[in-house]
Amino acid sequence: MSHKRVAILISGGGSNMVSLVDSMIGDHPARPCLVLANDAAAGGLQKAADRGVQTAIVDHRPFKGDRAAFEAELLKPILDVQPDVVCLAGFMRVLTGDFVSQFQGRMLNIHPSLLPKYKGLNTHARAIEAGDAEHGCTVHEVTAALDDGPILGQARVPIEIGDTPETLAGRVLGYEHQLYPAVLRRFVCGDKTPVLLP
Ligand code: GAR
Repeated sequence: MSHKRVAILISGGGSNMVSLVDSMIGDHPARPCLVLANDAAAGGLQKAADRGVQTAIVDHRPFKGDRAAFEAELLKPILDVQPDVVCLAGFMRVLTGDFVSQFQGRMLNIHPSLLPKYKGLNTHARAIEAGDAEHGCTVHEVTAALDDGPILGQARVPIEIGDTPETLAGRVLGYEHQLYPAVLRRFVCGDKTPVLLP
């Protein structure tokens, strides 16, 4: 059996990347082929290497805001490994429509809110400030619009009295680690039915 190939893009600690990599074992129809970071200091790079996954770094900073030039470099290691699916996992650079269109229908992202609520940053603080009863995370197909695109899964997480953005983020992250592997497995099997947790 030939496995589907999954490239994962990260910017930081990479806990979602680890949950994806660790899920792709045994009878799973996919395997990780690359972990790519836009920052050499991303803690996830070592975790990927420890798991025997090829890594690459394309630092965005030398491009000084020239997104097209950055993305041209970012594209190279991805095309080298010929992925079937690209997973954004805590990748904190906004990608242009040109870049995204090259992976139309096969690029996924995880976002820490119940989309369409709270696109962008500081989602946990915004949900608490709004007095929401629940928060959560979403895995969606990536389209040109930020934090948009067809929803492939959501996990709902109650907001508790006394929650801070940090405590809430920690609880949501635990659900992210369940949701993203569940969605990826379904997705590589050609099933886009949303995964709903819990
Ligand atoms: C995760 O909470 C992820 O949902 C969020 O960054 C964190 C990365 O953690 N992503 C975004 O905010 C994307 N806009 P990780 O590096 O430990 O997976």
